[in-house]
Amino acid sequence: MNANDAAIAAEGLTVRRGRHTVFDRVDLSVPRGQITGLLGPSGCGKTTLMRSIVGVQAGVGGSLRVLGEPAGSKTLRHRVSYATQAASVYDDLTVMQNLRYFASVLGVHRDDAERVVKLVGLDDAAGRRVESLSGGQRGRVSLAAALLGSPELVVLDEPTVGLDPVLRAELWQLFQELAAGGVTLLVSSHVMDEALRCDRLLLLREGQIVADTTPSELLESTGTSDPEAAFLAIIAAGGGTGEVSPHVPKHAGGDLR
Ligand SMILES: Nc1ncnc2c1ncn2[C@@H]1O[C@H](COP(=O)(O)OP(=O)(O)OP(=O)(O)O)[C@@H](O)[C@H]1O
Ligand SMILES: [Mg+2]
Repeated sequence: MNANDAAIAAEGLTVRRGRHTVFDRVDLSVPRGQITGLLGPSGCGKTTLMRSIVGVQAGVGGSLRVLGEPAGSKTLRHRVSYATQAASVYDDLTVMQNLRYFASVLGVHRDDAERVVKLVGLDDAAGRRVESLSGGQRGRVSLAAALLGSPELVVLDEPTVGLDPVLRAELWQLFQELAAGGVTLLVSSHVMDEALRCDRLLLLREGQIVADTTPSELLESTGTSDPEAAFLAIIAAGGGTGEVSPHVPKHAGGDLR
């Protein structure tokens, strides 16, 4: 894939946070118009990579191109959106006031707030102050804000944390609809079962990409039936470089936190 065809293309990406080198000469590519899942345990670098892609991370070296432009370029301001891991909305404003405020900051028509509030299924809570919402609802206000103005690339850091299975399924349905409409989504999660809902997967461990694959390839190559077992098999085989052992370690299930 040509670097300009990809939604995101990194070559020799290095990111230092304080004294710690989180990424050391990493190459990766994310195709357009698909959902790419960024999965891996806590501290592996998901948020750092997302912050680098949206251009808010200091200490980034190497080449990182987003929609054909260097990450963080001014021209990407309306083309790329980002919902942070912690909901970044105003507690003392209502859902709709928040969304109208963000719409005005972005220079997007205020009616767009009504569109996105419906998209995330929060129309019933539109008039409520954010401080009175549950954690999952709050997260969806952030997600709605990230969808304002119809960006081409949507970067979502753990958007389904704290949601019940029904809501999670609804949000993944929404992500799939957005991708079908040509939007590129990069979605992080530490819950491996969400891997199966993605078109592509980047599995991260300690700042290294241990697999760049699809859900079906992941299961096939590891001879496992669930993605968490597959991830553990890759690690057991030496981080994805060598041949993957068909003997999958037993695990307790749950997530990778
Ligand atoms: N502000 C910071 N200063 C220095 N190091 C940091 C900072 N924030 C994160 N790190 C380190 O960078 C590495 C990657 O952290 P990051 O937050 O990107 O991981 P993550 O995969 O998003 O984890 P989680 O699933 O817990 O959100 C970790 O080793 C972390 O300790
Ligand atoms: Mg994180």
